[in-house]
Amino acid sequence: MKKKDQLSKKYLTSGSWKFNRKVSEVFHDMVHRSIPGYKNISDTIGYFSQKFVQPKSNIYDLGCAIGGVTESIIKYVKNEDCKIISIDKSSDMIDEFKKRFSNKYGENFSVKIMKQDVLKTDIRNASVVILNFTLQFIRPSKKSYILKRIYNGLNKGGILILSEKVRSENKDNLFINAHKDFKLSNGYSTLEISQKERMLKNVMFVESIRQNRYRLKHSGFRRTVLWFQYLNFISLITFKLQ
Ligand SMILES: C[S@@+](CC[C@H](N)C(=O)[O-])C[C@H]1O[C@@H](n2cnc3c(N)ncnc32)[C@H](O)[C@@H]1O
Repeated sequence: MKKKDQLSKKYLTSGSWKFNRKVSEVFHDMVHRSIPGYKNISDTIGYFSQKFVQPKSNIYDLGCAIGGVTESIIKYVKNEDCKIISIDKSSDMIDEFKKRFSNKYGENFSVKIMKQDVLKTDIRNASVVILNFTLQFIRPSKKSYILKRIYNGLNKGGILILSEKVRSENKDNLFINAHKDFKLSNGYSTLEISQKERMLKNVMFVESIRQNRYRLKHSGFRRTVLWFQYLNFISLITFKLQ
C-alpha cells in the first residue's frame, strides 16, 4: 500500500532535507502532491524514450529515486536489446526501488538499479538520458560537468530530458503562490509547506529557464525544446544532433 506523506506535519526545529528511508517510503505520494504535472511528465518521458531509443543502446535514469520514471520507460520501450540503467545516490531510495520493482517485475527484468553518485556515472552508448528533478539537487559548480559528461556519452541522434523546478523570471510571485495553493489543495498544511521549504533551502539549487538553456548549450547541446511547463516546473528535451 502507498504510504501518505506526513513527515513535516509536526513542528520540526531544524535539519535540512535528506532522501532517507522515511522519505523513500512516502516518496510516491509526496511527488504527486508536490510537483505539478509529475504524472504527465513521467508518462511522457516514457513516450519520448520509445521514440528516440536506438538498438543495442543504454537508457539512463539519473536520480531515479524509487523508479517512477524507470517504470514509465519500461511501459513504453519494448526493445529487449536495450538496457535501462537507473542510478541514485541514496541507498534508501535504491532499496525502496528494488523492493517495489521485484514485487512487480521479478528479479530478472533487465534493469540495472545502482546506488551511485551521478558525478561518477560513466555514461556510454546512450540513446536516452533522463534527469527528472535531479539536477536541481546538484551544486551549480558541478551542473555543467554532469551535462558535458552526458553529452559526450550520448550517441548522435540521442536525447536528454531535463525536468527542473525553475526560478521565476517575472517579478511578481504569481507562480510561487499558485504552487503553494496547489500543495494546499493536495492536503498539505501551511506548516508542512513552510517547513519543507526551509529544509530544502540549502540543498536545492534552482535556476531560471534561461540559465538551464545556457548550460545545455555550453555543454554541447545545440537544440533544446521546452515541451512542458506548469507554473515553475518545466521539462526540456535536448538533442545531440546527427
Ligand atoms: C526529486 S528526486 C527525483 C525523482 C525521480 N527522478 C522521479 O522522477 O521520480 C531527486 C533524486 O535525486 C537523487 N540525487 C540527488 N543528488 C544525486 C547525485 N549526486 N547522484 C545521484 N542521485 C542524486 C536523490 O537521492 C533523489 O532520489
